[in-house]
Amino acid sequence: MHIRSNYKAILVTGGCGFIGSNFIRFLLEKVRYDGKIINIDKLTYAGNPENLKDIDERFGGTQYFFERADICNFDAMDDIFRKYQPDCVVHFAAESHVDRSIHGPKEFINTNIVGTFNLLECCRKWWEDDYQSKRFHHVSTDEVYGTLGETGYFYETTPYNPRSPYSASKASSDHLVSAYHHTYGLNVTISNCSNNYGPYQFPEKLIPLMILNMLEERPLPIYGDGKNVRDWLYVEDHCYGVWLVLNKGKNGSTYNIGGENEWCNIDLVNMLCEIVAIKTNKERNYYKNLITFVKDRPGHDRRYAINCDKIKSELGFIQTVDFEKGLQKTVDWYLHNAEWVARVKSGAYLQWIEKNYAKR
Ligand code: NAD
Ligand code: TYD
Repeated sequence: MHIRSNYKAILVTGGCGFIGSNFIRFLLEKVRYDGKIINIDKLTYAGNPENLKDIDERFGGTQYFFERADICNFDAMDDIFRKYQPDCVVHFAAESHVDRSIHGPKEFINTNIVGTFNLLECCRKWWEDDYQSKRFHHVSTDEVYGTLGETGYFYETTPYNPRSPYSASKASSDHLVSAYHHTYGLNVTISNCSNNYGPYQFPEKLIPLMILNMLEERPLPIYGDGKNVRDWLYVEDHCYGVWLVLNKGKNGSTYNIGGENEWCNIDLVNMLCEIVAIKTNKERNYYKNLITFVKDRPGHDRRYAINCDKIKSELGFIQTVDFEKGLQKTVDWYLHNAEWVARVKSGAYLQWIEKNYAKR
């Protein structure tokens, strides 16, 4: 997995969230990146510095630097660019949950669109002398392409057709990134990835929510008829895809990243019930009784499926984690990290953050 990287200082936004924290861990532990990593995170409900506590203890102040800051605050971003002089940005920071975007779209517009715009403006200002040796990588979603029927796939050339405030805000930011490439010559790449799962995912998303509800013997809410289909990818495989694109991807290009692993929600939850039952010494179908069909999500996209031939053939991407094994690892992680779960569920981590981190 060793890929030579020429970047000296990578600025990661949203590095305390689910994928961002896995990415920083991946850089330091898996590919042994030897440059600097600057993690900028506002620490919203979804950002938890505890996700990188051990990384901070081992690499803090030498290779790893954390700044609590809002990407919507241009002056703070400008200051951080001045201080660390990054030559690469990997932009994960976002409001990321579709259900929250339905109930309150405003923060999605601010962070996902205005925040991305601010970062692009900083790159334009600080990298003006030499755009070619720098790179802005934008982490996006397959949801920008809209929804599929029973057949077909999303390709990099599929026209955008976002249908939730979340996907519309991500689509807007994708367009801004490519506009900065075409208009100003900024060196950019974009990746559009399918649904991720794995350790440190906030328990509002399907897989961790179901695992934790099972452990508390609470209902497992399935939206609509449970036949909506998602393509699932283990988070570390996504990190690997991003790392490939960052170092080998073509300037101005978009790459789809997917698991080639489609599951309808009800089948997935049934499988998860069996895995958790084995791990907790229960009878095989024990948790299935908790499955409860609930009112559908408004505008619920029916099916997502990614064609990721481009990243495979151009950059040599492969998925390494089998779905059932990945789910087992994920269940183990939640079982073995009961204290993290308790702090996240009680909101105790939020009080701790306010006490320990100044905001800007
Ligand atoms: P997450 O919600 O777990 O983490 C988001 C992080 O961004 C948090 O740490 C949060 O504190 C931070 N953040 C939010 N607003 C901020 C702001 N204004 N300034 C600075 N930091 C801010 O999200 P995730 O699931 O890790 O997703 C990361 C990225 O990957 C997002 O851009 C998302 O659109 C994209 N993505 C996610 C998935 C998925 O399945 N989770 C799939 C494809 C793409
Ligand atoms: P989610 O994890 O929210 O990701 P996304 O909406 O970005 O795909 O949801 C995954 C699928 O699971 C989606 O079809 C909605 C469904 N879902 C449920 O059926 N019940 C739930 O409680 C949640 C959170 C999601």
